[in-house]
Amino acid sequence: MSFTILGTGMAVPKYSMTNDEMSKIVDTSDEWIRTRTGIQQRRICTTETITDLTVEASLKALDEAKVDPKELDLIICATLRGEYITPSQACVIQSKIGAVCPAFDVNAACSGFVYALDVADSFFSSGKVKKVLVVGFENLSNITNWEDRSTCVLFGDGGGAVVLGEGDDLLSIHTTAKGNPDVLYAPHGENCSPFYKHESEKPHIHMNGNEVYKFAVTSMVRGIRKAVKDAGLTMEDVTYVVPHQANLRIIDAAAERLGAVPRENYLCNIQNYGNTSAGCMPIVLDEANKAGKFKKGDIIAMCAFGGGLTTGSCVIRWGK
Ligand code: COA
Repeated sequence: MSFTILGTGMAVPKYSMTNDEMSKIVDTSDEWIRTRTGIQQRRICTTETITDLTVEASLKALDEAKVDPKELDLIICATLRGEYITPSQACVIQSKIGAVCPAFDVNAACSGFVYALDVADSFFSSGKVKKVLVVGFENLSNITNWEDRSTCVLFGDGGGAVVLGEGDDLLSIHTTAKGNPDVLYAPHGENCSPFYKHESEKPHIHMNGNEVYKFAVTSMVRGIRKAVKDAGLTMEDVTYVVPHQANLRIIDAAAERLGAVPRENYLCNIQNYGNTSAGCMPIVLDEANKAGKFKKGDIIAMCAFGGGLTTGSCVIRWGK
């Protein structure tokens, strides 16, 4: 026995920053960003905190699922940087929504949401839980180097949540990691120890875009093929693909290689939000769910990739 999705929710900051606004900060243009990435705007936190937004997304998902926070047996939050170093963001969410269950964070960068689903699956399979809240959220604007045009145009803030109940709609799930702290990383930032003999670095995201691009296309194709095969299905059975929202060109290239699923069934909203890392997938799921796109029995293949380097892919049957 594993899980089924009972409800979804999302939350993004109010401020939507356009490419034209970005071009006032760094030497770039709307044309460059649109044609190289597909991004038109991204949401950036101004007054909101990660706590405000993760709680908002969680409450929306619980409301749709008709689950009281006290019924939750576990909260997992996928994020690489919550409100505090400690407590975890999941514990902060637990206290704000009035839940009483165990809670912890998962850090697998952009693959974090799928990693968190994988952990949830293990808890369901061992019979330890009946209701789980999984949140994927990132506030990347606070670790973005706003002077580096090759990275700052890509990212945004936001995320979402799903409430999971017992069921058999997770058909397969697969995660990978290939440790490589060179091509995509963000240091901690200030070290407070007076004894530490290295210079402090700002906690900015550093990325070799071309290396990550190649990794991304290969990972998406490989990850989706494996998840679909492990589910005992073929690409022809897949109704929708929910790809990680890093770059429309990555999605186009993977879609072309995978075939079978029409390109319009690759659900994309990177135009509006940029890359929100672990937040991407729950946002896409919630927007499609609330738009009434998913029908009971639809087969949804999901694949994410990111820092680590990590990947996560899964196939879920829509059960609502
Ligand atoms: N505006 C204008 N020019 C820019 C720019 C920007 N925002 N960013 C980079 N450039 C310039 C570069 O300086 C370079 O100029 P040069 O030829 O004079 O040196 C030129 O554009 C081409 O740069 P390049 O890096 O080859 O561009 P690209 O087409 O490969 O696109 C990325 C760059 C980052 C968009 C692309 O590599 C990518 O999407 N990589 C994957 C990133 C990703 O998925 N990250 C998250 C993982 S979860």
